[in-house]
Amino acid sequence: MNYEERIKELLKYKPHLKIIDNKLYIEDIPVEEISKEYGTPCFVYSKGRIVQNYNRFLNAFKKLYKNVEIRYAMKANSNPHILKLLLNLNSGIDAVSVNEIKLALSVGFKPEKIIYTGVNRTEEELEFAVKNNILINIDSLSELKKVIKICEKNNLEADISFRFNPEIDVKTHKHIATGLKESKFGLHEREAYIAYKIAREYKFLKIRGIHMHIGSQITSVEPFEKASKKLLEFAGKITRELNINLDIIDFGGGLGIKYKADQNIITPEDLARCLINNFLEASEKYGFENVKILLEPGRYIVGDSSILITEVTTIKITPYKKFIGVNAGFNILIRPVLYEAYHEVIVANRVFSNSYEKYDVVGYLCESGDILAKDRILPKVFEGDLLAFLDTGAYCSIMSSNYNLRERAVEVMVECEKSWEIRRRETFEDIVRYFNI
Ligand SMILES: Cc1ncc(COP(=O)(O)O)c(C=O)c1O
Repeated sequence: MNYEERIKELLKYKPHLKIIDNKLYIEDIPVEEISKEYGTPCFVYSKGRIVQNYNRFLNAFKKLYKNVEIRYAMKANSNPHILKLLLNLNSGIDAVSVNEIKLALSVGFKPEKIIYTGVNRTEEELEFAVKNNILINIDSLSELKKVIKICEKNNLEADISFRFNPEIDVKTHKHIATGLKESKFGLHEREAYIAYKIAREYKFLKIRGIHMHIGSQITSVEPFEKASKKLLEFAGKITRELNINLDIIDFGGGLGIKYKADQNIITPEDLARCLINNFLEASEKYGFENVKILLEPGRYIVGDSSILITEVTTIKITPYKKFIGVNAGFNILIRPVLYEAYHEVIVANRVFSNSYEKYDVVGYLCESGDILAKDRILPKVFEGDLLAFLDTGAYCSIMSSNYNLRERAVEVMVECEKSWEIRRRETFEDIVRYFNI
């Protein structure tokens, strides 16, 4: 596909992005206007798109099974303004650290709508969760031991669930596959069985459910199909053999989004059909009753809601390459470097053109690996042009850093023709405030 076909195809899936008079708009605002008002680099989020994604995901499941709730995986993007928006939609939260729990509580999420999934947690961290009545997805026998100790010491009860590792290869990037045989996450079947058996002996442990999360950016149904069957079979086994009544089955997150025009993806409806059909079949077989299904989408909810606007500061032509240098690097957008991820690039101020060139789009960091887009055919680009990277709502701004002492980007929300800042641009003073100088 050439650039024009690529962009037109991709934008069919992103109705909050439009091209009017050859300029890129997000909702009803030209990207050029946003860059003038807030500067660059700038993450811009479409409020409408986040709401649409949330509703579509939830409704896909609700149509097939009523007792379903979302625990948004806030690690994807924990900007409190986005969290508030999701709170108003009645979402819950999947938190992976005490600080995430604290932020969720301060935004207004009730403890019963927060689950705590993590790894390598200390006694202090688990104690915080127990004392705040947060459901803990226990990840190891070591964590189970710690929770027992905390409850005994404080004379407290704890709501617990266990993360089950179904040993499934999800065929996503190796850094985001979390349910493999060799993964560090979760309890494998034998250990999980032992964990439930131990937990059953302690009255102060309220065994609520079972959890899995097999990976991220998953674009076919097959891994979900295999993993959910294994999890449900295991849930059936502990129901029958250990007489444990689970009231929560948590299938985690992982649904992929369309980053590339020619990439096949699955929809929330495909995912819902697979998970709910398997669940209903297992319910009949094992007699599960009054089970609440939890889902932890992160990327699907926010991923495609945002673009990153950057400015072209340098055009550099060497005997071997044409480089576009922009005022951002992997400190702002790490996914291409960390996961070899593809983000579509649009020349926002002149979307289509008569002449095209092949470029590497490179960042401003002093690192040769700071390549944000490689060998891309783009309209002929000039210094001062604006490049928009698409689909930067999940695992982008939240992973940004001050490497090379660069400031993190400003963040802006748009709704129709309104826009407002949801994270101010960092300053030199912000960056150095922790040093004793
Ligand atoms: C436990 C857990 N739940 C949910 C998610 C969200 O995954 P995704 O953003 O792919 O939906 C993650 C992300 O890795 C996770 O670790």
